[in-house]
Amino acid sequence: LRIAVFASGQGSNFQALADAALAGKLDGSIELLVCDKAAAPVVERARRAGIDTWLFKPKEYASREQYEEEILAELIRRGIDLIVLAGYMRILTPVLVEPFYGRMINIHPSLLPAFPGVNGIRQALEYGVKLTGVTVHFVDGGMDSGPIIAQRAVEIADSDDEASLAERIHAAEQALFPWVVQMIAEGRVALGGRRVTIRER
Ligand code: GRF
Repeated sequence: LRIAVFASGQGSNFQALADAALAGKLDGSIELLVCDKAAAPVVERARRAGIDTWLFKPKEYASREQYEEEILAELIRRGIDLIVLAGYMRILTPVLVEPFYGRMINIHPSLLPAFPGVNGIRQALEYGVKLTGVTVHFVDGGMDSGPIIAQRAVEIADSDDEASLAERIHAAEQALFPWVVQMIAEGRVALGGRRVTIRER
């Protein structure tokens, strides 16, 4: 499985995937990081891991479609099978979503369909739910709306603030995401309509 990770920020999920690959726990290789922010810590993580980065400046393009066309060409050139969105803070267009439908996944820090969009962690705290979590889903044209592959629950304690909850959410993400990618690599994940099934080992 040839993987491209798209990320804009810290890159803790990128790191978890790179580490899993390095440890031989992933039947796949991260071929490319796609990033829209030169100063993002994820860029340095890729450099240290020896993974190529395709950096772009959105402002240099007339439209989203225009830079996505370039990204698509690069993904095809590198024979990418799977796009993994890990904190990629940009809306995607059909240029990438359509050719990669069923081959592009995202991680979101809530139990979707609750709290989509930005700040899923803060939204859950402010709403006052006692249980939140993380979701990995296939990407469709909407905002965090595609078919759900896997979820893990995280309890919210009365003493939690955003930082303490984020710490447990990120730990849950870093465990779940490499596992899902491995299930995909093993061909165990089947997408049928909105229902996604994972065949047990
Ligand atoms: C994660 O919380 C992920 O769920 C969300 O963006 C964050 C990225 O964190 N989509 P990191 O850059 O992987 O550390």
